[in-house]
Amino acid sequence: MPEVPVAKTSQIEELKPFVVKTADGRKIGIYKFKGKYYAYENVCAHEGGPAVEGVFVGHNTCEFDPVSGKRLKEYFSTEKYDIICPWHGIQYDLETGVCTGDSRMELTSYEVVIDGEDVKVKL
Ligand code: FES
Repeated sequence: MPEVPVAKTSQIEELKPFVVKTADGRKIGIYKFKGKYYAYENVCAHEGGPAVEGVFVGHNTCEFDPVSGKRLKEYFSTEKYDIICPWHGIQYDLETGVCTGDSRMELTSYEVVIDGEDVKVKL
């Protein structure tokens, strides 16, 4: 698979999605989280919506009382983040691209290669 330069490392900030369009017309969202890079095609597995152009938030997390089952606390995680498709709100785990509600759905992912200042994706 060819490694295609899509950005410079200086253009991609931690927790700020960066969307690029490749020469063959693919739109790809590049993410940096905890120093690691992720790349996903801008096509939602649900109905083809522009998933990487949606909101990007901390994973909504709940803690429950193990005895009563009562919800104790709900918060947005700072350890896990989700990409949320703007069309119908399907959420994908940033680090895997897998839908958080239905693991049968996932975003098409690309391996990211850092080559000096260049951010490349394997297409
Ligand atoms: S097309 Fe993305 S949630 Fe429906």
